[in-house]
Amino acid sequence: MPSPENPVRVAVTGGSGKLGRAVVRDLAEHGYDVVLLDRIPSPEPVPGVQFTRVDLTDFGQVLQSLTAIDDRYDHVDAVVHLGAIPAPGQVPNAALFTNNVTSSYNVFAAAKAAGIRNVVWASSETLLGLPFEVDPPYIPVDEKYAVRPESSYSLGKAVDEEMARHFTRWDPQLKMFGLRFSNVMDDGDYGAFPFDDDAASRSFNLWSYIDARDGALAVRLALESDLTGFEAFVIAASDTVMTTDTAVLAEEFLPHVERRASIEGTMPLLSSDKARDLLGFVPQFSWRGWGERVGR
Ligand SMILES: NC(=O)c1ccc[n+]([C@@H]2O[C@H](COP(=O)([O-])OP(=O)(O)OC[C@H]3O[C@@H](n4cnc5c(N)ncnc54)[C@H](O)[C@@H]3O)[C@@H](O)[C@H]2O)c1
Repeated sequence: MPSPENPVRVAVTGGSGKLGRAVVRDLAEHGYDVVLLDRIPSPEPVPGVQFTRVDLTDFGQVLQSLTAIDDRYDHVDAVVHLGAIPAPGQVPNAALFTNNVTSSYNVFAAAKAAGIRNVVWASSETLLGLPFEVDPPYIPVDEKYAVRPESSYSLGKAVDEEMARHFTRWDPQLKMFGLRFSNVMDDGDYGAFPFDDDAASRSFNLWSYIDARDGALAVRLALESDLTGFEAFVIAASDTVMTTDTAVLAEEFLPHVERRASIEGTMPLLSSDKARDLLGFVPQFSWRGWGERVGR
């Protein structure tokens, strides 16, 4: 946690993107010295946050950005790595995989070279087996079963997690937390909610989502955790994108899947219990108040 006696400089890759903008804002508001690394400037610049244009697929650029940039800074304490193409289909599969996995390797390896032992990055809910054309092993789904990537995008996230496992095996003092974010939403998205007229259109991720501000909260809690090693955490809102009860949806779409918890109200079927238990993560926002803080 930063203080005037103990300033903490965090490099945020992909800080100009949808989730990154919320993360940069939140970290700056909480006293972090944030440096933003992206190939485009942020459309919502935050006062005091310096932007450096970086191509994350170029190791030399990443290494310098996590070490020192003349006239700007002489070291970095922690890294939040969000820079990636965030979904399949935007570019051909191989281009997406190459961009995302090369960027993650470069960030992880440059952090190691720079002696940075606090790394938090965006993994993805897709590792749980989205779009669930094959049933999950049980519901609510969590981090306890082996990853099930079903696209080149998700395969890249699986490779990221496997790389992190080995980077932390090489250095047990290193922390590398992969946050398996659900579908990131913000106030601009909530006009389309709920999706009760077409439940099938959101069955691909079991009707889950995460408000970008809660994604930022999860990042900050992960940065401030004293744990070391590799951990993956599912990060989802504490409700669904629906008003229909989750038990009714489960009965229709997942009739044969083992229930490992009683399914009540509009609770999500993506469990963030591990993040709650190890990081203290409790989502604060819901679409139900159009993004108003619900705090519980
Ligand atoms: N949006 C979602 O629903 C979602 C869900 C789960 C995980 N994620 C992950 O969260 C992260 C952020 O997603 P987002 O929705 O904010 O995406 P976004 O597209 O809004 O932002 C990603 C940013 O990364 C930058 N970037 C990509 N490749 C780069 C490169 N080679 N060099 C430099 N910058 C590069 C882009 O310029 C962009 O600003 C990604 O890793 C994504 O895979 C997103």
